[in-house]
Amino acid sequence: MASSIIAAVNYPAFCKATLQDVIPIHELEQRCYASEDVFSPRRLRTLLKSNTCIALVVHGPDNRVTANVLGLVRHYSRNPSGRIYKISVDPSMRGLGLATHLLGIMEDSFRAAGMKRSCAEVRCSNKASRTLFEKSGYHVETSLPTYYPDGEDGIKYWKTL
Ligand SMILES: CC(C)(COP(=O)(O)OP(=O)(O)OC[C@H]1O[C@@H](n2cnc3c(N)ncnc32)[C@H](O)[C@@H]1OP(=O)(O)O)[C@@H](O)C(=O)NCCC(=O)NCCS
Repeated sequence: MASSIIAAVNYPAFCKATLQDVIPIHELEQRCYASEDVFSPRRLRTLLKSNTCIALVVHGPDNRVTANVLGLVRHYSRNPSGRIYKISVDPSMRGLGLATHLLGIMEDSFRAAGMKRSCAEVRCSNKASRTLFEKSGYHVETSLPTYYPDGEDGIKYWKTL
């Protein structure tokens, strides 16, 4: 299925993910996360089919996906909010502002879907991710003791959109 290519000034073009991106996203996650944090192709397929998931990808050479952001829209009547579920940038593309750029685009998508706030859960030890969210205007609202399967604590970040 053709996807709409949306060009971004100074950044590689991104587009909405399709089911053809499931394996390339899974392979990107294998390059980015410890095995327990990698989503299976089955889980990614379910997410991409869901009408509450917004998935954006940046394609690189050889059909690779070099960056991906997965967001969930949650139409809670009192507090409609988006959740940044995963944001991943290939190690070869880091430090160029790509995650900051994709995060901003996802927040715009959340706003367009009527979301009033955006949130994300981050491992305490994930300095790069914590800095990304803090520099993008997120603040810590809650700690999440033993949130991750290996027992590590998490941090819950929120931003008003
Ligand atoms: C977290 C991640 C997405 C950041 O991607 P990126 O494209 O390199 O991020 P950016 O270039 O937009 O950097 C954003 C800010 O984070 C900070 N940052 C990036 N990498 C960092 C690192 N290793 N240590 C400390 N700060 C870091 C930078 O200071 C940057 O701000 P600045 O440019 O104003 O100095 C990337 O490191 C990644 O994919 N990590 C593995 C997957 C992951 O942990 N994802 C998040 C959890 S879902």
